[in-house]
Amino acid sequence: MAIVSPSLLSADFLHLADEITMINESQCDWLHIDVMDGVFVPNLSFGFPIIEAIRPICQKPLDVHLMIVEPWKFIDQFAKLGIYIMNVHYEVCPHLHRTLRAIREAGMRPAVTLNPHTPVELLTDILCEADMVLLMSVNPGYGGQKFIEQSIRKVERLRKMIQEQGLSTLIQVDGGVNLETGRQLIEAGADSLVAGSAVFKASSPQEMIAQLDAL
Ligand code: DX5
Ligand code: ZN
Repeated sequence: MAIVSPSLLSADFLHLADEITMINESQCDWLHIDVMDGVFVPNLSFGFPIIEAIRPICQKPLDVHLMIVEPWKFIDQFAKLGIYIMNVHYEVCPHLHRTLRAIREAGMRPAVTLNPHTPVELLTDILCEADMVLLMSVNPGYGGQKFIEQSIRKVERLRKMIQEQGLSTLIQVDGGVNLETGRQLIEAGADSLVAGSAVFKASSPQEMIAQLDAL
């Protein structure tokens, strides 16, 4: 069974309350929240006002993916909002050990995210500090992009590293995930699938979530 985290980025923001009701009534495990700053990635999304609005009505744990520079500045603010998992990008954290420790001390689960070009081997000495590694299978910044096939090999290599170190770190994959790529990723050793357009553009989002969950 996959841990399914639908990405809110592809939701209908004019009817956000209805989308959260759909999420609450679905079989998904978490809700994936994409925050973009227009600096680390070439796009803007949304920030605290939207997260504050959905927090009281969303019954699923929030999995926040920060595509921003200097994410450590917002640890306390995310912790106060009751965020479950805080994902920071490897590429923007010169002191990743300190940042992951600070996220855990603030009461959240620390996760580290890798861009498609960043090798998983760079995590060898930090893996034990992260509860999850999020592998990007598209270049971050937009929903609806094409899945990068090489991501499957990355999942396999990361799974091996986690086993060799005797850890229970989760592997999540984000970008271009649908039933076909999702199946390949789970077979390769992924634990969690983020899906934006595959869920929210489906004729039945709840049915799509159930099918991803069953992979
Ligand atoms: C991309 C975001 C993703 C995005 C995924 O930068 O991190 O979470 O919403 O969208 P799909 O599933 O449509 O590729
Ligand atoms: Zn994301």
